[in-house]
Amino acid sequence: MTRSRFAVRLVALAVLAGAAIGGFAPSSTASGRHLKPGIGKDLFGTMPDGTKVWRYTLTNGSMRIRVITYGGIVQTIETPDRHGRLANVTLGFPTLSDYLTKNSTYFGALIGRYGNRIAKGRFTLDGRAYQLTTNNNGNTLHGGTTGFDQRVWSAAPVTTGGSVALRLSHTSPDGDQGFPGTLKTDVTISVTRHNAIRFDYHAATDKPTVVNLTNHSYFNLSGEGSGTVYDHRLQINGSRYTPVSSSELIPTGRIAPVHGTPLDFTGPTAIGARIRTGFDQLLYGQGYDHNFVLDGSGWKVAARVQDPGSGRTLAISTDQPGLQFYSGNFLDGTLVGTGGRVYRQGDGFALETQHFPDSPNQPAFPSTELDPGQAYHSTTVYQFGA
Ligand code: GLA
Repeated sequence: MTRSRFAVRLVALAVLAGAAIGGFAPSSTASGRHLKPGIGKDLFGTMPDGTKVWRYTLTNGSMRIRVITYGGIVQTIETPDRHGRLANVTLGFPTLSDYLTKNSTYFGALIGRYGNRIAKGRFTLDGRAYQLTTNNNGNTLHGGTTGFDQRVWSAAPVTTGGSVALRLSHTSPDGDQGFPGTLKTDVTISVTRHNAIRFDYHAATDKPTVVNLTNHSYFNLSGEGSGTVYDHRLQINGSRYTPVSSSELIPTGRIAPVHGTPLDFTGPTAIGARIRTGFDQLLYGQGYDHNFVLDGSGWKVAARVQDPGSGRTLAISTDQPGLQFYSGNFLDGTLVGTGGRVYRQGDGFALETQHFPDSPNQPAFPSTELDPGQAYHSTTVYQFGA
């Protein structure tokens, strides 16, 4: 099909999908086979300054996701289980007001400029010292006090070889949160024909800077709000990790083997099997909250997850060197999610593809520096199955 004919078809499908958008209700009885492929949008809410926040619904025929322009947040991911029944497998909130006031958990959000922590919010680049805003025990977490997760992105549907896709763009001005350089970022989120969600991240700067972009979706393959993920079987393609020094969760700089520790997920293991052992690393984070050093270089499978209850599976592939496995430790029963249920500790897990935390202060870690004229490009694919 030519590009323009495909675009016409997308617009037609958008009308159909738009008609299907309404309030979200858990839909574990609906069958994925009836979904109409395409992309549609509805108004999700309005920012205090009057900026409209749109919600896009992307459907490939058997799965459906919703993305809002505030934070580039993936609000819902509905995928079929082994019987073809859809459930929403990501944690989120029903309203914009919830995201504006309660999303210190970063549910579904695009993370920038720098995923995870930078110690004391300080680093030196080309002999110049920079001080970032700090928002986590005196350290900078996920880009500072007002990171990319709190920006309204501009959005445009795009056509990419058979996928339904949305391109989100944001320009972060020189000095934003203390980071040097104007950073132009765009992230394309695609739902492929084969039930994968693909993230393509691009960025360019006009001054030397540091960049580490990721997505902070939490998953529960039994359906959000259905209880803990401790029975999910997780395999991580990482035989080493970056230990942290205390409950501030800043890496020591060492790269240590997982072998013989509860962080050994080199074979499929239930998330909860060893989570309450007294290993110091698990005490610091109240569970898993660690960067794994992925084995191999270039494009690779980073992790596989399988939920015995629903039969759903998730495989994550990336070109990034690291993966943050966070077992939802700080969910404390104070948040009510998309489907109206309370989220408690362990009710979701995040697997964030990334460069290592605090790399700007750790010369032995792969560099996160981006220079003018260089193109930052990174891809991560979340492949769903059952
Ligand atoms: C990351 C961090 C965690 C926690 C979550 C958000 O995964 O490593 O410590 O802050 O984000 O709650």
